[in-house]
Amino acid sequence: MSFFALVRPLVFALDPEPAHRLTISALKLMPVRALPMANPALAVTVAGLRFPSPVGLAAGFDKNAEVPDAMLGLGFGFVEVGTITPLAQPGNPKPRLFRLREDEAVINRMGFNNEGQEAALVRLAARKRRGIVGVNIGANKDTADRIADYARGVRAMSPVADYLTINISSPNTPGLRALQGGDALDALLDAVSDARPPAGPPVFLKVAPDLEPAEIDAVVKTASGRIDALIIGNTTLSRPALCSRLGSETGGLSGAPLAALALERLRDFRRASGGSLPLVAAGGIANAEQAWTRIKAGASLVQLYSALVYHGPGLARAIEDELPALMSRDGFATIAEAIGSEAR
Ligand code: FNR
Repeated sequence: MSFFALVRPLVFALDPEPAHRLTISALKLMPVRALPMANPALAVTVAGLRFPSPVGLAAGFDKNAEVPDAMLGLGFGFVEVGTITPLAQPGNPKPRLFRLREDEAVINRMGFNNEGQEAALVRLAARKRRGIVGVNIGANKDTADRIADYARGVRAMSPVADYLTINISSPNTPGLRALQGGDALDALLDAVSDARPPAGPPVFLKVAPDLEPAEIDAVVKTASGRIDALIIGNTTLSRPALCSRLGSETGGLSGAPLAALALERLRDFRRASGGSLPLVAAGGIANAEQAWTRIKAGASLVQLYSALVYHGPGLARAIEDELPALMSRDGFATIAEAIGSEAR
């Protein structure tokens, strides 16, 4: 029995938010370890960055950039911290985080609770740069100008980020998702481009899995050539069939029930972009077979969060250990050559 299997009942005896806080505190106590060696066949280059493995930690786990090195030490090929907003903000009233155990899912309506740019900046500037750490940025809930908040984030966080993610897909900040629409997205990407310093980090854009086909076409058309990768995607407002009594809680759903929708949207974006834009898949990934399916469907990288709650901190490693067998089963020597093979 793994250590995680032993402690899981104790963790699950706590409410999800204190359990998460405890996890972060425990990770902060971990000594910084040398980065684990990844199998060279797993390496992928996206936006000029060499990712040692395509398996990353999605945003929202380490909102305040407290433990990126601990998570890299657990075997993640890259870690995305945030969402970070210019100013600290408390987020929505509690409870706002729910474990749907029967569904291996999570619903959250956290609302970008975070300590703000300055606190994250200090932490990230103090760390030794090793491994790939992306910084996910957002807008404050009560800002007068959302686009200006993103520009502020780009300017402030560029020096400490290996890549930036413009997150316009959280369902828990009213109006935020409207930035995914044609004209608003156009204005946002102009502001981001103006704010990005010369030789600044690559820019990823994170969208919702709830976009309709016409909206997908508009995002691809507007964003092509102006961003370095597209993350598909965030949590969903939709509710596939769920067993848990918590399924009707308001907020974004993630974890196992999101997998089918997130894969479908990934395929939609691959079709709409024709492979011209690197894609990052997130949503319900919990094992190597699912990660591999996303890669073949067009993802250059994958990210996960909710599955960690149910499968523990060794999950990235386990997926990386199993990927080579799936690659050779399907006749691929490297991840790079398998990306989008299903669509070709
Ligand atoms: C998230 N996610 C998220 N995404 C983001 O861009 N900024 C954020 O602050 C957060 N916060 C957050 C909190 C919690 C509790 C969860 C469960 C999720 C979304 C996350 O990065 C990911 O896109 C989705 O959760 C889908 O992946 P999983 O969780 O199904 O692997």
